[in-house]
Amino acid sequence: MTDKPRVWVSRPTFPGIVARLEPHFEVTVEPEEHKFSSSELAARLATQDAAIVGLKDRIGAAEIAHATRLRIVANLGVGYDNLDLDALSAAGIAASNTADVLNESVADYAWALLLGSARRMNAAERWLRAGHWKATEFKAWLGTDVRGRTLGILGMGRIGQAIARRGAHGFAMPVLYHNRSPLPDDVAGALGARYVSRETLLADSDHLVIVVPYSAESHHLVGAAELARMKPTATIVNIARGGIVDDAALAAALRAGRPGAAGLDVFEGEPNVHPELLALPNVVLTPHIASASLPTRRAMANLAAENLICLLDPAAGRTPPTVLNREVLARRL
Ligand code: 8YV
Repeated sequence: MTDKPRVWVSRPTFPGIVARLEPHFEVTVEPEEHKFSSSELAARLATQDAAIVGLKDRIGAAEIAHATRLRIVANLGVGYDNLDLDALSAAGIAASNTADVLNESVADYAWALLLGSARRMNAAERWLRAGHWKATEFKAWLGTDVRGRTLGILGMGRIGQAIARRGAHGFAMPVLYHNRSPLPDDVAGALGARYVSRETLLADSDHLVIVVPYSAESHHLVGAAELARMKPTATIVNIARGGIVDDAALAAALRAGRPGAAGLDVFEGEPNVHPELLALPNVVLTPHIASASLPTRRAMANLAAENLICLLDPAAGRTPPTVLNREVLARRL
């Protein structure tokens, strides 16, 4: 045993990250992916000074009840709805996320889903793999166009802006968006993006991408009534969080052909996927991998490590870059 602070990493990570942590910490890395129960999390956190966790790890008052040494929980994700920030703050524990380092990869992936679903790519690929391709019919696999059509963004944070930039500059798309508050004029102007009501966004978008964070307020933000406002030809893409879209309502809407197609990377009750979505041809389904490029996953793990090092090793001389509850840091000075 050493007197270095202890860090627990809840899922396998890259060797370079462990090498970076080891001079500062006594490091324990879980060797396999595992969904930890509340009591398993509580038992592990009870002995640690720091933890790097993933979205599967739900951490609130019960999980930190015995974590008397714990100073920071670093989340491997920009979204942090798996953390009870109030409970962590009340206990004087900092929480950090991986803001910004994943913006471009997630925006790329939103586009992959948008293009793939608009052009029926997955269903056509399944059909080909099943050996059906004899002569492709002239009128088969008719998707919708993307270039020049209207792009809608629900949630215009940095990822939403990166998606909009690709649409405006790469695909010559007029961009509409809805957000809690409008962007500054110069930022909206550079994207050619126009602020509209949620109703107008739903009704006028040819391709709608959802990028709002999950919260009690955004739960089922898009349900049957909202989907019914969309064009029958429209595409809807969700790369944000399961539960923002009502998946049962979406399955029913896609079956009825309004909207025409969907690309989904996130699901209500992950890792379960609504069985009706699994049965539909006009939806592209992927297992929450929008940030999963090698450089980005490395950058996310590195940023988590940086937060730990800056917080717990005074010799680092830097402020932890992406702490969410900064008031905790101020209290500890
Ligand atoms: C996941 C994400 O963190 O950043 C987020 O909020 O949802 C993703 O980047 C990633 O898939 C790891 O589980």
